[in-house]
Amino acid sequence: MKPDTLRFNLNGTWIEETNLPPTTTLLRYLRDVRGLVGTKEGCAEGDCGACSVAIVERGQDGRPEYRAVNSCLVLLPMVQGKHVVTVEALKGDDYHPAQHAMAKALGSQCGYCTPGIVMTLFEATYRDDLKEPWQLDDQLAGNLCRCTGYRPIRDAAKAVAGTCPGDRFAAALPGSAPGSIAFHHETSATLFATPTTFDELWALLDEHPDARFVVGGTDLSLEITKKFQVPPKLVSLEGLRELRTLREGPTLSLGSAVTLSELEAFTRARLPSVHRMVRYFAARQVKHRGTVGGNLCTASPIGDLAPVLLSLGATGVLRSRAGDRRVPLDQFFTGYRKTALQPKELLVAVELPAPSPTARAAAYKVSKRRELDISAVSAGFFVETDARNVVTTARLGYGGMAATPKRAPHAEQALTGQPWTEATLEVAVKALATDFTPMSDHRGSAAYRSLVAGNLLRGFFLETRATPQPTLAPRHVATVMTDEEVRHG
Ligand code: FES
Ligand code: FES
Repeated sequence: MKPDTLRFNLNGTWIEETNLPPTTTLLRYLRDVRGLVGTKEGCAEGDCGACSVAIVERGQDGRPEYRAVNSCLVLLPMVQGKHVVTVEALKGDDYHPAQHAMAKALGSQCGYCTPGIVMTLFEATYRDDLKEPWQLDDQLAGNLCRCTGYRPIRDAAKAVAGTCPGDRFAAALPGSAPGSIAFHHETSATLFATPTTFDELWALLDEHPDARFVVGGTDLSLEITKKFQVPPKLVSLEGLRELRTLREGPTLSLGSAVTLSELEAFTRARLPSVHRMVRYFAARQVKHRGTVGGNLCTASPIGDLAPVLLSLGATGVLRSRAGDRRVPLDQFFTGYRKTALQPKELLVAVELPAPSPTARAAAYKVSKRRELDISAVSAGFFVETDARNVVTTARLGYGGMAATPKRAPHAEQALTGQPWTEATLEVAVKALATDFTPMSDHRGSAAYRSLVAGNLLRGFFLETRATPQPTLAPRHVATVMTDEEVRHG
């Protein structure tokens, strides 16, 4: 029988719902149906963090873990079979350490942002990978506060992050792994289905060729919350395990439903240039739901992942009932917001050759604000030289410079076969004018974009002189550094 009942665990109790539109957001459900108004609505678009709740998901190692997510972007079938924790569950006989820490640090004034911040700190409390100061900023970057100032909030984060207390939430975690997330709700005009096998998926697509794919919903849910347009037919790919797989080897494979936070952890040591880009991609709550495939398949000219993956020579693995085909990423984007995907075909993974550690590789994002912004120009560069310092491979991927994310063939040609020197570089910078005719918009003029595109290449040359694959410097956001951090840099 097809599972058309929504069933999930809310604050320790399993509940079932049969009469709700599956495009109801978790936030609206919590507040309007359950009266759990501790979870707030600020922006309804994943920017403010006031709606943060925790969901238990399996990590890449198979262990269940708490993840803070924006409930305004989560549609109810996305928590099918899962455990959801809201701020109301935190107070038992005593307040949770995250609540104590916020109170002690004086981290709340009007308090509207506070429950969301507490839930972000709740996740941080049980993380065992919070080792460096920048990770605190990353943890908090998706939570806005207009009253208190971030210093006391960061002090609270510092007090609880990674403390992993052996409390009731830690004790509940091993038994809270997601169960089956299969779901199927269909009316004469609408569909929301989460198949768990490819056979089910092909059958669904035969019947509903006009259905749209969704996984995390960080982009699609905005149509519901901001444009008040409900997509009539949605097929979630979250139940297809293969799509959540990360593989190592001479060829790295990134499953299309791998979340950006999983990608961030995976690439830290393996693909520093990708890791650099994922760091400034979005808030942690968004990175817990946004996916590799979602970012690529929206085919935005300013999508953050595409330029760096183009530079690494990535290939998309596209699957339909007829089988798999491989399309180099530089042929995947066929026009503004268009891809090479055919009807009833999906991106299952992105493959890329593991870069040699001596190759130069880095990624850059230029935006008006460092965290959580849309880029004016972004870039991913990859250059290999031989023993004589002659360029053997050059791949330059750019975003924000054309209707699609795009490589720079003329500039690449200007580099290839030439010595890797500043003189060669200046020839390549000039060639960028042949590769791109950027447009002007509110993020930057055409002239600005062209200048930035060249300067990024110059910066890459300088930055990779000492370290071929540089990581981001662990800078903090100056306003929230502690006195101790200011003293020690
Ligand atoms: S309400 Fe602002 S992130 Fe959800
Ligand atoms: S305490 Fe008022 S918005 Fe944060």
